Amino acid sequence: MKGLKILLVLIDMALTLCACHSSAALHPLILVPGNGGNQLEARLTGAFKSSSLLCYQPFLHHKEEDKSDWFRLWFDPKILLSPFTRCFAQQMTLYYDPDKDDYHNGPGVETRVPFFGSTQSLAYLDPNLKHITSYMANLVKSLEQIGYIDGVNLFGAPYDFRYGLAAEGHPSFVGSRFLHDLKELIENASATNGGKPVIIMSHSLGGLFVLNLLNRNPLSWRRRYVKHFVALSAPWGGTVEEILTFASGYTLRVPFIDPLLVREEQRTSESNLWLLPSPKIFGQMKLLVITQNATYSASDIPRFLEDIGFPQGVQPYKSRILPLIEHEQLIAPEVAVTCIIGYGVETPETLFYGSEGFDKQPEVVYGDGDGTVNMVSLLAVEAKWADTAEQPLKVIRIPGVSHTGILNDIVALEKIITEISDINSVVTGSVA
Ligand SMILES: *[C@@H]1O[C@H](CO)[C@@H](O)[C@H](O)[C@H]1NC(C)=O
Ligand SMILES: *[C@@H]1O[C@H](CO)[C@@H](O)[C@H](O)[C@H]1NC(C)=O
Repeated sequence: MKGLKILLVLIDMALTLCACHSSAALHPLILVPGNGGNQLEARLTGAFKSSSLLCYQPFLHHKEEDKSDWFRLWFDPKILLSPFTRCFAQQMTLYYDPDKDDYHNGPGVETRVPFFGSTQSLAYLDPNLKHITSYMANLVKSLEQIGYIDGVNLFGAPYDFRYGLAAEGHPSFVGSRFLHDLKELIENASATNGGKPVIIMSHSLGGLFVLNLLNRNPLSWRRRYVKHFVALSAPWGGTVEEILTFASGYTLRVPFIDPLLVREEQRTSESNLWLLPSPKIFGQMKLLVITQNATYSASDIPRFLEDIGFPQGVQPYKSRILPLIEHEQLIAPEVAVTCIIGYGVETPETLFYGSEGFDKQPEVVYGDGDGTVNMVSLLAVEAKWADTAEQPLKVIRIPGVSHTGILNDIVALEKIITEISDINSVVTGSVA
């Protein structure tokens, strides 16, 4: 009886909340997460070598997992313990192969992204610790309240966020395969929803992948399949925080981890190199790093990479990243775009290093932004597309909301859902 009563209440609530739309009327929606925003699995082969026995053990198996030797590499709370942090860093490390001009995993480490197509691996980073590893869960819940249903008209596009994309003419096997899968997911989502074009909603780094996907496909394809692109907290021109990551390590706000334990691994991440501040957006004059001996603006990234002791990064940065961020990726896609950003949160703007060099965390001068992405980067496309008549762009600014807070804050979620509802009520075709 009690169960029935609860069920009736739930149905009643669902009817009230869904008064605005029936599911069938909604445009399908695809969520594309940011850096570190979905689960990543790994498995070790005979070629894996480590000085620590601990690193050979797949992390704790949980009972609902199958008997295969795949384990969750990101995220598992064990990596908070320093011996496991070392294993994690080793297993996450990427290598750049100058002969192939592409990145690959370390020897003996295979990785895969679980649940492509579903929101499952981006709602929670660890399904056993939902309360502390929730990522897009609240956003998904809010979308469900207006009639979205996972696997029906709501989809997730998780990816291996360590890899990035490269400028035209350079291979990026993993990143390009993701763009291919995402394109297919968009087409499938449209096909199973009466041919309606999709709404793509990204968070952070996901926005750069989506914009590249749009610009790498013909305008006719974009107009046919993409109703609207909603970019949350997109770092269009990179971040100063990424400089801090390269210089001194940064723990993605995970507490207790010694940043120097993950610094080497973070330096090898192709997507981190992609997120270094763009000279076009941050300018050649503005000093981002000041040390005892030198100063660096966004135009000095190659010299900066040498000086911090990561010369391996210079060549891929110059050949693969610079042309991409300077000439290719901020082109107006000519489909409707809404940027939703937080601002008014202290965001690293200039880093000061003293006599102890880059191993010690710097003194930081803060400026405006969302705590992670600087204002100039959040607003880069607004400035760039202002005189492009074919580019419908709306920017929604939410004060006091942080980079990931935008996925949880009640006011932010309300604005996001209102925007999605508005997009759904605009008749397709009016944009062109
Ligand atoms: C798209 O649909 C086809 C045909 O049903 C299927 O084979 C393919 O795996 C789907 N791709 C994605 C990315 O969902
Ligand atoms: C600055 O230069 C001195 C002398 O060349 C060197 O010993 C020191 O390590 C440098 N400091 C930094 C922070 O690079």
